[in-house]
Amino acid sequence: MTQPLTPAETPQQHAAFEARILRGEKIEPGDWMPAEYRRQLIRMISQHAHSEVVGMLPEGEWITRAPTLRRKTILIAKVQDEAGHGQYLYHAAETLGISREEMLGALLSGKAKYSSIFNYPTMNWADVGMIGWLVDGAAIKNQTMLAGCSYGPYSRAMVRICSEETFHHKQGKEMIVAYAQGTPEQRAMAQDALDRWWWPALMMLGPHDADSPNSGALTKWGIKLKTNDEVRQEFINEHAPELLEAGLTIPDPDLHQDESGNWKHGPINWDEFWAVVNGQRGLNKERLGARQAAHEDGAWVREALDAYTARQLGQAAD
Ligand SMILES: [Fe+2]
Ligand SMILES: [Fe+2]
Repeated sequence: MTQPLTPAETPQQHAAFEARILRGEKIEPGDWMPAEYRRQLIRMISQHAHSEVVGMLPEGEWITRAPTLRRKTILIAKVQDEAGHGQYLYHAAETLGISREEMLGALLSGKAKYSSIFNYPTMNWADVGMIGWLVDGAAIKNQTMLAGCSYGPYSRAMVRICSEETFHHKQGKEMIVAYAQGTPEQRAMAQDALDRWWWPALMMLGPHDADSPNSGALTKWGIKLKTNDEVRQEFINEHAPELLEAGLTIPDPDLHQDESGNWKHGPINWDEFWAVVNGQRGLNKERLGARQAAHEDGAWVREALDAYTARQLGQAAD
C-alpha cells in the first residue's frame, strides 16, 4: 500500500524512514517521520489514553460496594493504575506535537473515540472480576504487541503499563475462579457476568482484518505487529479453556477447538459493536457526562496551578 506524500515529503525520505523501521530502530520524537505516521499515532495513542481514563468509570462505581476490605483495596489500586496509564499515554501523544488540552477537548466534545467496551454497564459485583479477567486480559494481548511498536515513547509506555495490567488480570481471574467454585449465588453471579462480557471482550479487539481500514499502513510502519484477528485468536486460545476449566459456560454455541488447536468463535454481532462505538447503544452519554462533570469540578485546581506558576515566575523575576 503506497502512502500519499504530503507536499514537503520526498520518496527518499519515506524510503529512509521505512528502512529504519525494517532495521527495527525506534523512532524518537525529534526524528523525521511521515505526516501520516504522526497522524495515525496521535489518533491511536490519544484514543488509548481516553480509554484508560473512561475505563475508570465502570469499575469505580463499585468501590463503595466492595464486599471486603481486601477486594476494596485491590479495586482502588486498579482504578488508580488506570489513571496513571492515561497520564503516560497523554505524555507519549504530546511528544508528537498535540497538546493535552486539544486531546481532552476532543474527548469531552465527543469528537474523539475511546474503547467501545467502557460503554457497557456494570450490573453486579462479579463484573469487576470479569472486567479484570477478560477486558484487561484482551488489553494485555494488544498492549504486549504495542510494546514492540516502532514509536519509542509509545512502546516504552506500554512496557510499564503491561506490568500493571498483568496484576489487573490476575486479580480478576482469582476473583471469578473463587466465585465459580463458591455458593450457588456466587456461581450464578459469575456466569451472568461472563454472559454479558464475553462478546464485548472479543469485539474490543477491533473489526475483522478485512474491515479494518487503518491496518495496512499501521502494519507497514511497525505500529501494529499483528492483525486484530491474530490478537483475538491469541486471546480466545488463552481464555476459553481457562473459563471452561473454572466451570463456567461460554455464551457461544459455535465455540470449538479446531485440528490446529485454535479455539474458533461463532459470528460476531458487528452491528452491536458499531452502535456502541457510535453511542447509539450503551452508556456513551453517561460516560462523557461523568468526564465533563469531573473536568468542570477540577477547574479550581487548574486555576490554582496557573496562579501558583504565575507567582513563582513573579518571584523569580524579582
Ligand atoms: Fe490500563
Ligand atoms: Fe487495567
